[in-house]
Amino acid sequence: MRADFDAILRQLMKKLNVGIIGYGWAASAHIDAINQGGKAQVSAVYSTRKLDSSEVSAKHGGTITVYNSLKAMLADPNLQVISVTSYPWEHARQIVEVAKAGKHIIAEKPLVLSLKDLRTVEAAIKKAKVNFCICFEARFSSHFKVTKSVIDRGLLGKIHYGEVDYYHGIGPWYGQYRWNVTRKGGGSSLLTAGCHALDALLLCMGSEVEEVTSYDTQSAHPDFQKYEYPTSSVTILKFKSGAVGKCAAVVDCFQPYYFHTHLVGSEGSLLDDKFHSNLLGANKNGWSKLSMSLMDSGDVSDHPYQAEFDTLFDAIAQGHQMPLAGLADAVATHEVIFAADLSAKRGKPVRMKEIRGK
Ligand SMILES: NC(=O)c1ccc[n+]([C@@H]2O[C@H](COP(=O)([O-])OP(=O)(O)OC[C@H]3O[C@@H](n4cnc5c(N)ncnc54)[C@H](O)[C@@H]3O)[C@@H](O)[C@H]2O)c1
Repeated sequence: MRADFDAILRQLMKKLNVGIIGYGWAASAHIDAINQGGKAQVSAVYSTRKLDSSEVSAKHGGTITVYNSLKAMLADPNLQVISVTSYPWEHARQIVEVAKAGKHIIAEKPLVLSLKDLRTVEAAIKKAKVNFCICFEARFSSHFKVTKSVIDRGLLGKIHYGEVDYYHGIGPWYGQYRWNVTRKGGGSSLLTAGCHALDALLLCMGSEVEEVTSYDTQSAHPDFQKYEYPTSSVTILKFKSGAVGKCAAVVDCFQPYYFHTHLVGSEGSLLDDKFHSNLLGANKNGWSKLSMSLMDSGDVSDHPYQAEFDTLFDAIAQGHQMPLAGLADAVATHEVIFAADLSAKRGKPVRMKEIRGK
């Protein structure tokens, strides 16, 4: 009896083994977050580069096997989870392979670069019945946990207007720039980075999007001329609830990283880390301060990956779907991105019915 109990306990305490696809900047933050959380460990990396397993192991701790073949890594029965941190244009094909191998998936944003690939990936993950988590880690940040809590406690009343905007200059000084400038690599200002702000706006507004209008443009500065797509866009959203919202995605600026949040409701407003609520009887001529860490850095080592990944590992252990940043959340946000990019291309509004096919 005691031996059975010990075996169950050992099984319960066993860490999940994670394999990483791609070994770049995002991978380094994923490896640290996975290993530091204590619920899982990185034990494999797939890279097209010839990396040395012992060097990679020594750098990150534990025993990490480096594979040059994705097929070989996916055949490892000891791996339960695969984290996809490769170039954006590789995500769709690799995620389908991971799903077919029956492994749970962590996927970096953008999930995919086209609506067609979104449908393919969505179908493959559903068919495989694996767990899935999209790296919209802002949802797990202090910034948006506190913001969501203010909303959910009704302190703003019924929200009728919301803005969440992304300002982050991705110029020649930035690692990703080498591939981000191409349409095949970056996709659009929303796909490459603004998706974090759009996703956070959808989280805050809590209503389905009905219609999207988007316009885009580009900085005249020489640093941004290599971009094959417009690097600033503004998207106006009409929600089913009757509310409206706006998301600017600006990756061609010279200023500190800024994740602007402004929500307006029937009982108050929230502006970044400040708010006013009639329900507290405070004076509306001054803001009340919220103690929170704002999303104020593009550096992956500052991002709340650990909280997000630990949530996924708990979901896997408990046999339920990833909350907050699961497949349905990833699909909903990417559908709006594709509607926005289509609207900017056409120069007119796009109904979400057209994107969803219903
Ligand atoms: N969630 C976030 O906030 C966030 C932040 C950064 C990146 N990302 C995403 O992560 C993914 C990867 O981005 P990244 O910044 O890690 O890109 P990266 O250029 O550092 O690495 C991307 C890929 O390139 C490979 N690579 C890196 N250096 C290489 C070299 N010298 N030679 C050959 N191959 C090399 C890596 O193995 C990896 O597969 C992208 O989808 C990106 O959008 C997300």
